[in-house]
Amino acid sequence: MNKIRAAVIGGSGYTGAELARILSLHPAADLAAVTSRANRGRALSELFPHLNGICDLAFEEADPVSLGKKVDVAFTAVPHAAAMAVVPELLASGCRVIDLSADFRIRSREVYEEWYVPHTAPELLADAVYGLPEIRRKEIAEARLVANPGCYPTSIILAAAPLLAAGVIDPDTVIADSKSGTSGAGRGANVATLYCEVTDGFRAYKVASHRHTPEIEQELAGACGREMTISFTPHLVPMSRGILSTVYAGLAGDISAAGVMEIYEKAYADEYFVRLCAGDALPATQYVRGSNFCDIGFRLDRRTGRIIMVSAIDNLVKGAAGQAVQNMNVMFGLDEKSGLLARPLFP
Ligand SMILES: NC(=O)c1ccc[n+]([C@@H]2O[C@H](COP(=O)([O-])OP(=O)(O)OC[C@H]3O[C@@H](n4cnc5c(N)ncnc54)[C@H](OP(=O)(O)O)[C@@H]3O)[C@@H](O)[C@H]2O)c1
Repeated sequence: MNKIRAAVIGGSGYTGAELARILSLHPAADLAAVTSRANRGRALSELFPHLNGICDLAFEEADPVSLGKKVDVAFTAVPHAAAMAVVPELLASGCRVIDLSADFRIRSREVYEEWYVPHTAPELLADAVYGLPEIRRKEIAEARLVANPGCYPTSIILAAAPLLAAGVIDPDTVIADSKSGTSGAGRGANVATLYCEVTDGFRAYKVASHRHTPEIEQELAGACGREMTISFTPHLVPMSRGILSTVYAGLAGDISAAGVMEIYEKAYADEYFVRLCAGDALPATQYVRGSNFCDIGFRLDRRTGRIIMVSAIDNLVKGAAGQAVQNMNVMFGLDEKSGLLARPLFP
């Protein structure tokens, strides 16, 4: 079988480099093109020396029409708004698209425009499939356009969706408190992520206003079958990678820890990339670093009548590039684990 040919639009960013790293070990896919406006002609490994001798492709200009004809799949690893500027032409040229930005994650144009910017390709919203394989595998397999989930949403939805679907938590009580390493903000120069602004400290940001909120609400509403709102507070912590989400919710009735574990086990029995923490164990970012795993654990708090769910992912892998490759594997009928067997890097 011929290998799948892939392009990364926005290959000079953190998720683009992570796609190149993962695809370099993929047995059934080759990276055929990487683009960057600012680095045209330079080798990817010049910008990212950890990929020296592993991916020495030169950056080219993003011409979606010719790229779309040249490859089977394009990963758009560019900021929101920039993605929807190229996705229609990529699709029209015949390739399938996995978009890492937020442009196609929100089904409602009105909601997208309330949180982001005016949408320039709203006709594609109905076709786009939210790319969380553990929840939408069948639709992803058929999709031309997959909207790869946000990093915070991946960690929160995987923890809360099974319990919402089972009706054991009250949808009106969900609070997600998440902490992310600074690679979540991308590689672009930004005062907020300078060493001195981030190191030796820990801060909340975009409180009650982070753009991932409507995406989390949309997918959790799908799980529980009715509209719901959440409180979501992201924090920036001085580490390069990783997200830890602590999700609190009121219990809807009496349930034991064994009962909760049974729900998770049933939901994720066949999901290689979701690992449940048993006994005294709880997830931590250092146990998933560099891997496509999402670790989930929980505690019941009898005193308050709440459950506290904890999940950990690597924001650049299960939160972005790894999940994108997992989606590609589903779309092209490959083993879902292809290229994604990297073990967590600890310590
Ligand atoms: N970082 C994460 O943990 C993470 C997780 C999930 C999803 N995402 C999403 O994935 C996308 C990429 O994130 P990132 O962290 O890799 O960002 P990044 O490090 O800032 O890289 C952005 C890339 O997009 C290109 N780019 C920037 N502005 C552009 C524009 N207006 N038009 C075309 N290309 C443009 C840049 O190269 P040139 O400027 O040279 O063209 C660069 O290659 C974003 O939508 C982000 O929200 C990121």
